[in-house]
Order: sequence, then C-alpha cells, then structure tokens
Amino acid sequence: MGNKYYIHTYGCQMNVHESEKLAGILRSRGFTECEDFADADILVLNTCCVRETAETKVYGHLGRIKSQKKRDAVLIVCGCMTQQKDVAAQLAKRCPYVDIVLGTFNQQLLGEYIDVFLQTHKQVIEVWDKERDIDGGVEVARSSGINAWVNIMYGCNNFCTYCIVPYVRGRERCRPLDDVVNDVNDLIDSGYKQITLLGQNVNSYRYKDKNFIDLLSALEFDKKYRLKFMTSHPKDFSIDLARRIAQSKVLARNLHLPVQAGNDRVLKAMNRNYTRADYINKIDAVRELVPNIGLSSDVMVGFPTETEAEFQDTLSLVERIRYNNLFMFIYSRRSGTPADKMEQLDYKTKQNRIDRLIKAQFEITKQIAADKVGSTAEVLVSEKTGSRCFGKTEYDASLSFSDENANVGDFVTVKITAAKNANLIGEVI
Ligand code: SAH
Ligand code: SF4
Ligand code: F3S
Repeated sequence: MGNKYYIHTYGCQMNVHESEKLAGILRSRGFTECEDFADADILVLNTCCVRETAETKVYGHLGRIKSQKKRDAVLIVCGCMTQQKDVAAQLAKRCPYVDIVLGTFNQQLLGEYIDVFLQTHKQVIEVWDKERDIDGGVEVARSSGINAWVNIMYGCNNFCTYCIVPYVRGRERCRPLDDVVNDVNDLIDSGYKQITLLGQNVNSYRYKDKNFIDLLSALEFDKKYRLKFMTSHPKDFSIDLARRIAQSKVLARNLHLPVQAGNDRVLKAMNRNYTRADYINKIDAVRELVPNIGLSSDVMVGFPTETEAEFQDTLSLVERIRYNNLFMFIYSRRSGTPADKMEQLDYKTKQNRIDRLIKAQFEITKQIAADKVGSTAEVLVSEKTGSRCFGKTEYDASLSFSDENANVGDFVTVKITAAKNANLIGEVI
C-alpha cells in the first residue's frame, strides 16, 4: 500500500477545520496529501447533512469514486451525515465498497480504525452516541494559507426546529479560555494573519467565570492580525459585543448574524427565541457603534406553513437591513427534527420564493458595492497572481488591486475605484 491521502470536505467551515485535524492524523502516520483522488491510498469523505442536497452529493460522488479509485484504496466516510446512526448502517449496506464509516464523536480515532481495517479487511462501522472531543495529540495540518481556524466550542443547544446540527454535533462544550488564547497566540507567531473563532453559537461561550467578551478581550494582542468569529445567534448577541467590536484593534468590522426569517410567527415556529423587532434593534445599535460594519446573514424560505405574507416579511426585512452578503436557502426536511412533522409546502412555492429573494438581494449587493467607490479600505492580501492582489476588506468585501510590491499576508490600504457586482477594485494609496 502507498502513502497518499485525499480528503474531500462537504458543508461548513467547521467541517473544513475538522478535515485539517483528520489530515494531521494521517500526516503523523506518514501519509502525504495528493491532488487527485484517483491516486489516493487513503480516501476520506468528510460529510455534511444540513440539507438533503448535501447528502445527495455524497452518494453521487461515491458512485464515481467506486469506479475510479485505486483498487486497494481505503475508503472512509465520516462527518455529520454518518453520525445519523441509521444513515451509517444504510450507507455501509448500499455501498459495500466503503471500508470505514465513522461519526463525528469518534473521528479523531481515524488512525486506530485504519489499523483495524488493514488487519481484518472487514468493513468498520463505528458511530458513537456520546460527545467526546479529543483535542491535542496531533498537529493540525492547516491548509488555508494565511487563514487559521480555532474551535472555541463544539455542538449546539438551541434546537432550531428545522436543524439537524444539534443531533449530529451533540450538546454545547466550550474549550478552556487559556487553550484558545495560547492557540491564537501561537498561530499569529507562526505567521497566520487572520484567525477565525468557530462555534455554532459563539455568543454563549462560557468557561468558568469567563464569557465570550472576556475571551475576545484576552485576544487583543499587541500584534497585527485580523480576528473573526462565527456564528453569532441573534438571541444572544449583545450590545456589549458591539462595543467590543467598536473598541477592538484586531476584530474585523463584520458580523454574520443569521436571521432565518422576518416574520414573528415563523421565528417562533423555528424556535429562534427573538422577534423581528429585537433583531432590527440590535442591528441598528451595531450600525450606530460600528458605522462601516459589513453585515451578513442566513435566510431560509419555505419553512413548513410559511404563508406568502410571511415570506413577504422576510423579503421586507432583507430590504430594510440591506446585508452586504446573504446566504439564501430553501428549507430542506431533516428526519428527526420537529419541522419534519409539520405541514410542508410544495416545491414550486419554495422555488418561486427563493428566486424572488435572490433577485432582491442581487440588487442590494450591487448597490452596496457601488456605494463604496471613492472610500478607502484595508485589504488583507490572501492571493496574488502576477501583480494582481486579491483579498478581503476589514468589512469582509472581496477586493482586488494591482501592486508589484504587496505580498500575500500584507495589510494594504487602498482607495476603491470601481465595483463589479459585489467585487471591489482598488488602487494602492
Ligand atoms: N449555527 C448557525 C448555522 C448552522 S447551519 C446558526 O445558528 O446560524 C447554517 C445555515 O444552514 C443556517 O443558518 C440555516 O440558514 C441553514 N439551515 C439549517 N438547517 C436547514 C434546513 N433544514 N434546510 C435549509 N437550510 C437549513
Ligand atoms: Fe442549527 Fe439553530 Fe444550532 Fe444554528 S443555532 S446550529 S441553526 S440548531
Ligand atoms: Fe457543518 Fe453540515 Fe455538520 S453545516 S456542522 S458539516 S451538518
């Protein structure tokens, strides 16, 4: 058997970071990464199940992998999708050429399971139903240039009625504050320029007597770097946090605050625990404290029983807030969640609503970008081809400019000269 590995990641940023940990395990065992899955001796699919389309993709890829992988490659499926017990069993049966199936709570033992498989050559299906996060031990194999991700917590306690995440990621567990602070400090010292703190609901971070604001304060190092966090939950987002952003020397001027819907009855049915008015008040307060803040959000259309008028409330909220960036989803039924048992809308209605929402947001994004022309921004360069530099502004907009001297990892102040849809173009001052 050769020593090449290939990992394919589905789903969110947290999963991308989980894959970096899995890569760390494989590297510590002497494997090296390869570019093409057809060359891999160890092939890992780190899956997502937040929407049905995520699962359909995995099955589609498995069909292709079956015929194109190396004959004796070890094929491993792990992640959120396989944390659903019956899904793991179904997948192992439907795809007998999959060698190892793991859930989210035991995937840090990947190396041990590979050993077992190589000894027995029998399919290994191991899904635990208890949370257990095994931190440390292996070096994380970070793969994202100047960006590094740091978990501050795992799991979620919110049980939004549409969402499967709490079932496949378990209850909320926070990492010790000092561990997070040390990780971030080490990452900056080894050259990372942008650190993103990860958690399903970072605002509820608590370790002993310390909360999320305390953690952010402890990360105000006297070093040049950019600090971000995701995701904030509107019910727990506080004005104190907005003040922290305003005062901070390191925090990006951006906030991802998923609203999901703009109608109070729907928000209640989703178990979101805030109203439209609560949300708008918080956004208005943040904007007053941090005038150039870039706002982004997740919105869902076609939640069970959502009426046309209720959808209009989402549309009007989006038009009222004017997000810099909006992630828009059609509600997807997830088995085992309360919303799955509610009365469902038909496909056409859902499709029609998302089309209208996308159209409305497209105009807003374009207008916001156009309004930036003439202003200045600080860009963190993350890519360079020839003399063309690409990066993000402090308020999280994509920007490009030409400069021979700038390098990846530099913070460069530019004047914005043009906008193409959501993308800004600048020149060095
Ligand atoms: N913890 C984060 C996001 C988790 S999932 C939060 O609370 O915002 C990312 C996004 O996927 C959610 O914000 C939601 O908009 C969307 N999502 C979750 N479950 C979904 C479902 N069943 N169908 C469609 N979209 C869903
Ligand atoms: Fe899912 Fe809600 Fe938890 Fe986010 S807060 S992960 S949407 S249950
Ligand atoms: Fe992320 Fe998908 Fe799991 S969104 S937490 S990988 S279900």
